[in-house]
Amino acid sequence: MFPKWAGKCEACGGWNTLEESVVAKATPGGMKATSKAGKIEFFGLAGVNPPPPRVPTTIAEFDRVLGGGLVPASVVLVGGDPGIGKSTLLLQAGAALGRAGKRVLYISGEESIDQIRLRAARLGLTQAPMDLAAATQLGDILASFAQFPDAALVVIDSIQTMWTDGVDSAPGSVTQVRAAAFELIRAAKTQGFALMLVGHVTKEGNLAGPRVLEHMVDVVLHFEGDRGHQFRILRGVKNRFGATDEIGVFEMTGGGLAQVANPSALFLAERRGNVSGSAVFAGLEGSRPVLVEIQALLAPNPGGSPRRSVIGWDSGRLSMLLAVLETRCGLKLATNDVYLNVAGGLRVGEPAADLAVAAALISAASDVPTDPQMVFFGEIGLSGELRQVAQAELRLKEAAKLGFAAAVSPKRVAGGAAKISVPASLRLVEIGHLTDLVAVVTRGAKPKGSGDVK
Ligand code: TYD
Ligand code: MG
Repeated sequence: MFPKWAGKCEACGGWNTLEESVVAKATPGGMKATSKAGKIEFFGLAGVNPPPPRVPTTIAEFDRVLGGGLVPASVVLVGGDPGIGKSTLLLQAGAALGRAGKRVLYISGEESIDQIRLRAARLGLTQAPMDLAAATQLGDILASFAQFPDAALVVIDSIQTMWTDGVDSAPGSVTQVRAAAFELIRAAKTQGFALMLVGHVTKEGNLAGPRVLEHMVDVVLHFEGDRGHQFRILRGVKNRFGATDEIGVFEMTGGGLAQVANPSALFLAERRGNVSGSAVFAGLEGSRPVLVEIQALLAPNPGGSPRRSVIGWDSGRLSMLLAVLETRCGLKLATNDVYLNVAGGLRVGEPAADLAVAAALISAASDVPTDPQMVFFGEIGLSGELRQVAQAELRLKEAAKLGFAAAVSPKRVAGGAAKISVPASLRLVEIGHLTDLVAVVTRGAKPKGSGDVK
């Protein structure tokens, strides 16, 4: 190793054969880039590694998804459809950090300074300290970082617009995006600032271009929502420093993104009592219970192949549930078009939603509204048996808090799971099989399609 420029290589005697290679400084809590004499160092598992220090953005819903705030020298990728509000979210988060006394650089490759200022004015953030730039050339951007050794956060909006001279392909191409991200990440790790990259999502729902980007960063967040709705959900997809199943809930208002501390109340706000085909699911998003309305609509379609249209849930799971309802409960649904919707634009991934979906379908088939004071949760197996799901207590508590009077859940196996405490204001209806659910939902009325009614 040569610490400074030398013309001759002492090892082989050749002239001008040496190449400069810059060794990155060690990063706090990260990997050491230096090695002695070409060897790596090994460590035992034991040892005290203090948890990474966190810098809260002061936007609680954002911090929750990050796992308690930004980790210095970490890299966060925020993906989402165009127009969903990524730039708005990061401008607000940056401004909040700026106001907390941190240095924030916001570099946009998509909008001019004037456009960003206009948005800031709309969001009432013009007084927040922040350093704005409109740039896309990576070399210039990297060179400017030296002026800001105190930078706590650098926002790049978006990674697809950045390009580096070193690579011969067009901005936005896989090679460019990967090379640009690599350079930026290296700068973040050596200088110790947190880096936030905005990434666009392709039609297939992948972060545009390279999935590799997801491997390169520490945290991947998806900003989701239905553009027709005002709710926006920030979902953790990958997090090297915390849990990945957390969500942050926001509402897009005229003045930017507002935090929603009580999502259940929001998702149920537009629910109308006494219509058939609706059931309330007591769900769980990360550590947080969320109540949502599941809506089902059946329309007869005697000829042709019936449609199955699902928004907010897995369509394969719906097909399975329809098959179980047909085979185990005698409901005739095969000749119906089936529409299923999770109200409010939330995407539900839990199998625990099975019971609520089934309740909505049974209610639609029998034209009997479910009890509006009732919530449902539980998983359904192929033989129609019900399975317990995690965190029943948390779900029940949330239902009681929102004024629900009853909850339908799978029967606990004797001698199995520990006792759960049920809020006093809540009646717990434990059922073992899907046929019991038909009885609970229809309260004696026969579903239209069921075997003995023609
Ligand atoms: P934007 O943050 O530009 O989305 P992205 O960066 O993901 O493409 O947000 C665009 C949308 O948000 C735009 O259609 C208008 C809407 N919006 C509001 O409704 N209220 C606001 O205060 C702001 C700033 C944007
Ligand atoms: Mg944008």
